Amino acid sequence: MPIHNSLSRNDFPTDFAWGVATSSYQIEGATAEGGRGQSIWDTFAATPGRVIDGDNGDVAVEHFKRFGDDVDLMSRLGIEAYRFSIAWPRIQPTGRGPASPEGIDFYDQLVDTLLAQGITPWATLYHWDLPQTLEDAGGWPARDTAYRFAEYAGHVADALGDRVKHFITLNEPWCSAFLGYGSGRHAPGRADGADALAAAHHLMLGHGLAVQQLRELVPDAQVGITLNLYPVAGVHDGHGVDDAVRRIDGLSNRWFLDPVLRGAYPKDVVEDVAHVSDLGFVAEGDLGTIASPLDFLGVNYYTRHIVGPGAFPGSGVVEFADRGLPTTAMGWEVDPDGLFDILTRVTRDYGDLPLVMTENGAAFDDELSADGLVHDPLRIDFLAGHLEAAGRAVAAGVPLQGYFAWSLMDNFEWAEGYAKRFGIVHVDFETQVRTVKDSGRWYAAFLAGDRTQY
Ligand code: NOJ
Repeated sequence: MPIHNSLSRNDFPTDFAWGVATSSYQIEGATAEGGRGQSIWDTFAATPGRVIDGDNGDVAVEHFKRFGDDVDLMSRLGIEAYRFSIAWPRIQPTGRGPASPEGIDFYDQLVDTLLAQGITPWATLYHWDLPQTLEDAGGWPARDTAYRFAEYAGHVADALGDRVKHFITLNEPWCSAFLGYGSGRHAPGRADGADALAAAHHLMLGHGLAVQQLRELVPDAQVGITLNLYPVAGVHDGHGVDDAVRRIDGLSNRWFLDPVLRGAYPKDVVEDVAHVSDLGFVAEGDLGTIASPLDFLGVNYYTRHIVGPGAFPGSGVVEFADRGLPTTAMGWEVDPDGLFDILTRVTRDYGDLPLVMTENGAAFDDELSADGLVHDPLRIDFLAGHLEAAGRAVAAGVPLQGYFAWSLMDNFEWAEGYAKRFGIVHVDFETQVRTVKDSGRWYAAFLAGDRTQY
């Protein structure tokens, strides 16, 4: 990439949260230790054919036992905030009842270690590891799961709320609902459109109930939800494509933004899905609960989606097109302008709620070089390009308050197993040795105040 700009943290607000993100199932391992119950990802990964190479999170990157070293590493890199998730089946092994002291103890230690190093904890309550017992009772398509989630949120608030002041209820509920229950690509691997819509509703209801719990138990907490958002555009103009763009934007972005921030489902999308579900699961008062006021909206951004010419209404086929931009190892086009577009669009359409980039990053086929280092110039370009776009959004008036790189270290990339590396720190999955990649050094220099050219 040619040098065309310079970037400094001074281009962002002074109280901006600068961090890295991870999630429990992707890094902890020790799935049978500490009294942890089984989650839907344990079951899914143990089912042949679900995860590439039959990989699973049993060992992952052993963060459960190496968390002290991992926090030291963050501290050496100058990371100021850490977004991690809490494994629900560690807190409630069967998804209901009292909190497990052993489960609480792990996160107590993690939080204390972070605070001792001056790193601000940002806790996500649900990053996809639903207790298997709750799935057996119906999972997210069942209304009771929302109430169970609120109970669990109360336990976390009770235990950690004296020290943790930043909470994210759900991570990417679109994925939990539509990949988990719609396409079946993620746990629990069910494929039923009506179930997916019910799951989305109960996830959002659980979110609203959890917000209320957190407000009551931790009055000084900052509470938000993280959505995966992306601009959707057509590969060319034309009525068919325009309508497909509207539908896809509707079901991926607005289906969550509208209820959470406006207290209503988007009418056009309700019509689109009418042949699948009459949304009979929406009870009186639900939308008010779902729209409980937030302190920030978490945004995860990876790429823009381009709707291809084959995606015509009624065909049931969604075809996405490439524009010939460079891609990451996930096959996702690198498009920093898409980040500017989505941030400015959310602010324009939904008002000036503070936004936080809770994830942004890229997978590349990183390798340890003979010099013992990991040279990942493409990831540096990716992070710098997206930070520059975020900076432009700030200059354009977007109330952006934080940026978390995905991810601190290589980890279990869901259905892709360990084949896709997103870390700014390399992990040798055999030896568990951590090696800071060039991108990790670059991010550390940026956080230390260096103005970088790229
Ligand atoms: C979003 C998810 O929250 C995270 O778990 C995942 O690893 C990244 N995207 C990369 O796909």
